[in-house]
Amino acid sequence: MEIINRRQRMSSVARKVRREEDKTIGLVPTMGALHEGHLSLVREARRMCDVVVVSVFVNPTQFGPNEDFQHYPRDLTKDTALLTELNVDYIFAPAMEEIYPKGFATYVKVEGISDQLEGASRPGHFRGVATVVTILFNIVRPDFAFFGQKDAQQTLIVKRLTRDLAFDTEIVILPTVREESGLALSSRNAYLDEDERRAATVLYRALRTAKEAYKNGERNSTRIADWVRSTVETEPRARLDYVSVTDADTLEKLEKLDDRPVLIALAVHVGKTRLIDNVVLNRAKQKEDVTVKTS
Ligand code: PAJ
Repeated sequence: MEIINRRQRMSSVARKVRREEDKTIGLVPTMGALHEGHLSLVREARRMCDVVVVSVFVNPTQFGPNEDFQHYPRDLTKDTALLTELNVDYIFAPAMEEIYPKGFATYVKVEGISDQLEGASRPGHFRGVATVVTILFNIVRPDFAFFGQKDAQQTLIVKRLTRDLAFDTEIVILPTVREESGLALSSRNAYLDEDERRAATVLYRALRTAKEAYKNGERNSTRIADWVRSTVETEPRARLDYVSVTDADTLEKLEKLDDRPVLIALAVHVGKTRLIDNVVLNRAKQKEDVTVKTS
């Protein structure tokens, strides 16, 4: 395993792997502070690809001015230990100037699906994501890149930019990994104290009530959203930012649900921490979310 800090070294290693060794490369982009959600992506990459690259880069352009860029958890030593155990070939952990050289001025904006949901609450967020993913794809040129359903809108944006900008990369989306409590794993869970952690289980509880309502025949999206809202309101430490019921592929608002895949997504403030989660109804061959035991 090698830790690479320079973009040039990363490009030349990847080029060599591709050309001389004729091997497939899998890239798992992350911001570090790795947990089982990230590791599930790495395991699948390890299974599918000859060479696995995990990038660890806390990307400033996807954080708003009042967000947690400064405080975002960072622990490359621990991340390295976890990735070594999983037999990763390369960790790409670039310094800021390697991704954003002096005078950097070029951004990628995926129109249409970047402005609602997370995009509405976090203006500029997806421009930052699309830009850094494009840069990482250009440096590594992966055959496969792995993303989590936890960030549903991000997966749509990455798929769209891959197609629109003609990257020769297949995007693999993997299910959300949850604690037994239902709480989706997230690096930001580290911000929660014990009470908040308990309170944070309300996100998935709320999504489950919506799922249940749908199962029982409810097809009105406003009423489904109301189920989510009223469940979140039962938790005094939680404050709903948004709940949305949309077409899972286009993010168009739906009035009445039919047999199309539907994304129910929400963002909730628990204390000072903002958490997101989602479920998809009606996905033809939907992989179930994964539950892990956490100590
Ligand atoms: P980060 O939040 O570190 O997440 C890296 C990848 O792990 C993303 O694809 C995310 O969806 C996935 N992931 C996070 N929690 C998960 C969970 N509980 N189950 C399954 N997958 C999970 O997402 C980002 O970083 C950044 O936006 C990035 C794509 C790296 C661009 O900077």
